[in-house]
Amino acid sequence: MKKIVTLIGILFFAGLAFNSSAEEKGHRMEEGSHHKMHSGEDGRISLGLSPAMKQHQLANMRNHVEAVQSIIGLLSEGDFDKASEIAYSKLGLTEEMKKMCNSFENETFKNLGLAFHKSGDALGDTLRTKDLTNSLGALHTTMTYCVQCHATFRQ
Ligand code: HEC
Repeated sequence: MKKIVTLIGILFFAGLAFNSSAEEKGHRMEEGSHHKMHSGEDGRISLGLSPAMKQHQLANMRNHVEAVQSIIGLLSEGDFDKASEIAYSKLGLTEEMKKMCNSFENETFKNLGLAFHKSGDALGDTLRTKDLTNSLGALHTTMTYCVQCHATFRQ
């Protein structure tokens, strides 16, 4: 059952990626990242992950971006309770995420990961207050961790 749900999530997300690449902006971004790949090293710190860990991490990341997408959709519908639930369960510091973050040897990465998930719980708290402006602010804070980590680390 969990596998089916994951599969549906992946298919849904692949569809989204396909749609956006048809847009002008998507095209430019795609070309930009190809360019980067050809130039080799990009200055970010490598985590030196095993192939299995790489796949696991990327699957986790796709869940994160899907959670953000869901939260934004739910905010547009005014469903703060459901958005809050998703923030806690998908972005918050669950036992699974704590274990995952603590398994990394790089201390900076570990701490950034833990701080990110704590911000996911704070986002859940803010969403529960049903204040749209504060909720957007909290989502921005959480996404600042996405941006910061991606700018610093690669697999
Ligand atoms: C503590 C670090 C960290 C945080 C926080 C983080 N990521 Fe990532 N993410 C990574 C790393 C490392 C990669 C692999 C990047 C690479 O090797 O180029 C990655 C890759 C991804 C990918 C690519 C997935 C794929 O299948 O190719 C997506 C999408 C992504 N992250 C989304 C997010 C979103 C959305 C957030 C925040 C809600 C987030 N990440 C937060 C470290 C992080």
